Amino acid sequence: MNNLALFGGSKVITRPWLRWPRHDDAEATGLTRVLNSGKWWLYAYGGGPRPDDAASADVSEVEQFEREFAAAHFVKHCYAVTSGTNALEIVLQACDVGPGDEVITTGYTFIATSSAILSRCALPVYVDIDPDTYNIDPARIEEAITPRTRAIEVVHLGGEICDMDAILAIARKHNLKVIEDAAQATGSILRGNKGAGGLGDAGIFSFQASKVVTAGEGGACATQDDVLAERIWSYRNCGRSKTGLWYEHPRLGHNNRMGEFQGVVLRAQLSRLPEQCRTRQRNYDSFLAKIAGIPGLAPRKLRPDAAQRCLSVLILTFTGAGWDGIHRDLVLEALRAEGVPATLGYGWANYQNPVFATMQQTLGDRAFAFGVERFPDWLQYAERCPATEKACRDRGIFMPHALLLGSDADMQTLADAFAKVYEHRSELALRGRK
Ligand SMILES: Cc1ncc(COP(=O)(O)O)c(C=O)c1O
Repeated sequence: MNNLALFGGSKVITRPWLRWPRHDDAEATGLTRVLNSGKWWLYAYGGGPRPDDAASADVSEVEQFEREFAAAHFVKHCYAVTSGTNALEIVLQACDVGPGDEVITTGYTFIATSSAILSRCALPVYVDIDPDTYNIDPARIEEAITPRTRAIEVVHLGGEICDMDAILAIARKHNLKVIEDAAQATGSILRGNKGAGGLGDAGIFSFQASKVVTAGEGGACATQDDVLAERIWSYRNCGRSKTGLWYEHPRLGHNNRMGEFQGVVLRAQLSRLPEQCRTRQRNYDSFLAKIAGIPGLAPRKLRPDAAQRCLSVLILTFTGAGWDGIHRDLVLEALRAEGVPATLGYGWANYQNPVFATMQQTLGDRAFAFGVERFPDWLQYAERCPATEKACRDRGIFMPHALLLGSDADMQTLADAFAKVYEHRSELALRGRK
């Protein structure tokens, strides 16, 4: 095998198959249809608020997407909004999370999981992840509950659904709402028609460009609960009510509606999702089999009861065993030089982000709006969440889902790149010691 690309050798991956987003004529035809229709927003199809089930042959693309998305996830209500962040803020508001409340969540996630809680003037309370699944560890939730806890906001990281049975049992016992941050879990379904986003009280999805169904940006709120559905509908629609007048606003809401151009693109994207999930699963299994002989690389533990996985992030654990003491970050550098788009994922936990360090200083006395005089010492969570810290610093390897849309030969090439870096580990170790 030739020298590492990091040291001037030739790359293993010369033909990148990574291409995302993908589209075909369905998006182009749909966009032209919307453009020519002159109906570019949801309410071009009706003068004002109206029931979801209004019978009309001429139905908005957004509304059709909402129905199709809800059906695909076995959830009763779905409302499309402008982003996943925005969807989180709406469901937290619909669940009555507000000043002085605490919301239990994890720090091993995108910042929006936390910032949405803070935007409600509520405080995130971090619970560690299970190091094998990378999702919240249900065994650690109860000890974090206080009289101020209002909700548990779980993250289905990389599309892998959390242990919802355990989480829901705790929530019911303590009368807490469960919100699913399913931003990365579009298309993840458990056996028995249990879809991500429809398992807790409310769920959210993201259609930002890196996600498996995308319109560049966009999001959705989902719930099985009719009362929450009505609130979500209202909050994303300027606080209107379904029975009120157009300029009548019984609630404090915002315009978070999705436009028709995004709706039509998302319908086309959604239609390809089941096939793409099958391809990703097949390639994932094949890739894991091909790297099984390389020590120190462990697949994350997946649920045995998945009917469909979206595999929106390919996550591996670098245990370091058999790698001559090399750190993950050097392995990542060598992999990237070989053409593998591997990253460290979340390099720090949410609570380690600079915004947390400056919060008290920036808000000063105004921390009272959060129902506290002082914010907690956020760095206490670094001690309370050792698995999160380790995943960030030493163990996590993330690769984009589009890698898994290649051919089986592509999976072999990917595995070859890992094998090559492993075989040259002693050279890497020398460099690591420099
Ligand atoms: C776990 C998680 N939550 C929330 C979001 C926010 O979604 P958006 O980027 O659409 O606002 C993301 C997006 O990456 C995410 O990964």
